[in-house]
Amino acid sequence: MVEAIETLLEERRRIPPPAAFTAAARVADATIYDEAATDFRAFWMGHALREISWFREPTEILDDRNPPFYRWFADGELNVSYNCLDRHVAAGGGDKVAYTWIGEPADEERVLTYSDLLAEVSRCANALRELGVRKGDRVAIYMGMVPELPVAMLACARLGAAHSVVFGGFSAAALADRINDASCNVVITCDGAWRRGQVVPLKVLVDEALVSTPGVEHVLVLRRTGQEVAWQEGRDVWWHDVVPAASPECAPERMNAEDVLYLLYTSGTTAKPKGICHTTAGYLLGCIMSHQWVFDVRPDDVYWCAADCGWVTGHSYIVYGPLANHTTGVMYEGTPEHPSWSRHWEIVQRHRVSIYYTAPTAIRAFVKAGDEHLARFDLSSLRLLGTVGEPINPEAWMWYHSRVGRGECPIVDTWWQTETGSIMIAPLPGVTTIKPGSATRALPGVVAQVVDEQGAEVPLGSGGYLVLKQPWPSMLRTLWGDDDRFVSTYWSRFGRDVYFTGDGARRDEDGDFWLLGRVDDVINVAGHRISTTEIESALVGHPAVAEAAAIGAHDAIKGEQICAFVILKDGIDQSVELRGALVAHVATQIGKFARPGMLLFTTDLPKTRSGKIMRRLLKDVAEGRELGDATTLRDPAIVLAIKSQADAQLGR
Ligand code: WTA
Repeated sequence: MVEAIETLLEERRRIPPPAAFTAAARVADATIYDEAATDFRAFWMGHALREISWFREPTEILDDRNPPFYRWFADGELNVSYNCLDRHVAAGGGDKVAYTWIGEPADEERVLTYSDLLAEVSRCANALRELGVRKGDRVAIYMGMVPELPVAMLACARLGAAHSVVFGGFSAAALADRINDASCNVVITCDGAWRRGQVVPLKVLVDEALVSTPGVEHVLVLRRTGQEVAWQEGRDVWWHDVVPAASPECAPERMNAEDVLYLLYTSGTTAKPKGICHTTAGYLLGCIMSHQWVFDVRPDDVYWCAADCGWVTGHSYIVYGPLANHTTGVMYEGTPEHPSWSRHWEIVQRHRVSIYYTAPTAIRAFVKAGDEHLARFDLSSLRLLGTVGEPINPEAWMWYHSRVGRGECPIVDTWWQTETGSIMIAPLPGVTTIKPGSATRALPGVVAQVVDEQGAEVPLGSGGYLVLKQPWPSMLRTLWGDDDRFVSTYWSRFGRDVYFTGDGARRDEDGDFWLLGRVDDVINVAGHRISTTEIESALVGHPAVAEAAAIGAHDAIKGEQICAFVILKDGIDQSVELRGALVAHVATQIGKFARPGMLLFTTDLPKTRSGKIMRRLLKDVAEGRELGDATTLRDPAIVLAIKSQADAQLGR
């Protein structure tokens, strides 16, 4: 049999859950998997009735008559903001802290209890209603990480308007596209946002975008950074003029389970962005259950998801899951490197953070910056760590486990997508034996498989395409305004009832999943299909390397040759000897045929705004081509710098 993707690296370390962790865990044994497998409909319905407060309880569970247009709990009625706020306050939990917010400028801090949040969300909802927002409308939100961002999201949910959060790092043109695609009638923004000590002038960008968005009637503007802004009378409204004066009471709309809760645009690396569409009840249930199972949240936890609300991770694990679960969270305005790489650890120490969730790209950056940035901090409050967004290389995982987690905290490597709405593959920290680099197994109620080109499940131990075989409540319902693209992107390759994730994966002999990156990135060398992730992990396993990206570059003889871009740890110099040593290292870790034919040292990698490496641009660099479109990069200048570093090393 020809494997869809060959897998070569073997990681043998195993870490069972600490007994003390299991003893206190919310899920302490594996029976939950069997329960879900026996009757997944009854399993989800039971949780839906127990965990959600309904205005009208559903009697229907799953409507699967017209795949892939699935519907969950379709005759139920509820409101998500009611579930996140009102019910906790009504139960006497209004004084519990919802968010401790920490500003990027030193010493700015705000504490919002559940009662505070309910009042502020209600005021904001009333103000939005005054501006003409109605049930069924779409509202664009383009803000920095301030408490008013979740407030605005929840206010939309309260009114039954779908929000479309656009990450504050996107350009005016990207914002305009997204506003128009969803026909938003109102935009919520800030004068500016803090980012690495600088002001990002959001209102200027909104003004620029709105030149080409005829449907927008009002812009609600929060003052955050304080600089002068241009003002269009009649259209623009200050938050401080209308929100504080509005009533702190606002009845939540009765929403149908399948009404749209939000749109979130994901950009592929090239094509037109896709408006991922999530609905109300199923999405909420997915967030609630996964947040409880995977993060093992308990009433006294201080939980910090260090993502931005502009991404799905912020939607599901800063806002909807944690608030519906009445969790106390930390919310941080800035990025991990400003004013120094110690910032996160200082926050963990000061606020006694117990659960910390971040991305592998941040972890590798911490490794590169050096251990001295965390050595002086007391991180003993941490009891659980998580990662999301990319495959995590075993060595970065080990660093996280030993340096941040003192070798004691379980790590939950969570695989999911904007499209899946909530975590699909991850350990249950009190149950699962974890392995560095493996997301382990599908959550209860989720059926994941690795299949070959024909859609047949591959034997354990081999690689292929990751698919989800059974509908789940938080699944995307469509792409906004484009059912055909929804079907062709996700539900065509292996049939209308099999969700194709676009990721490659391998299952090991225990059935655990190892993610191998996007299948579009697979490298084909002399007939071997190799995953970028494995070559990168091999390189990051070398003590000199902080981060690496592997791509396939055209080669006249082999078809493709492997080209690796390597970032060294701070304080280590590049040299011809080191290059040779790294190439040899890959050969011993994986095999001679996987030796990079080209290995270039760089100081940076081209990343999208959500931190994913954009390999197509590295391919352009390696092949000495004109650089392709770099507008979706966080910092488009980086790729030019990489190109000149590469050209110098290649003598071009
Ligand atoms: C990748 C982020 C390996 C994967 C929640 C997926 C991961 C894409 C992991 C979705 C993980 C996410 N291990 N790869 N734990 N988590 N990915 O939509 O390629 O921003 O398809 O959602 O990120 O990215 P998105």
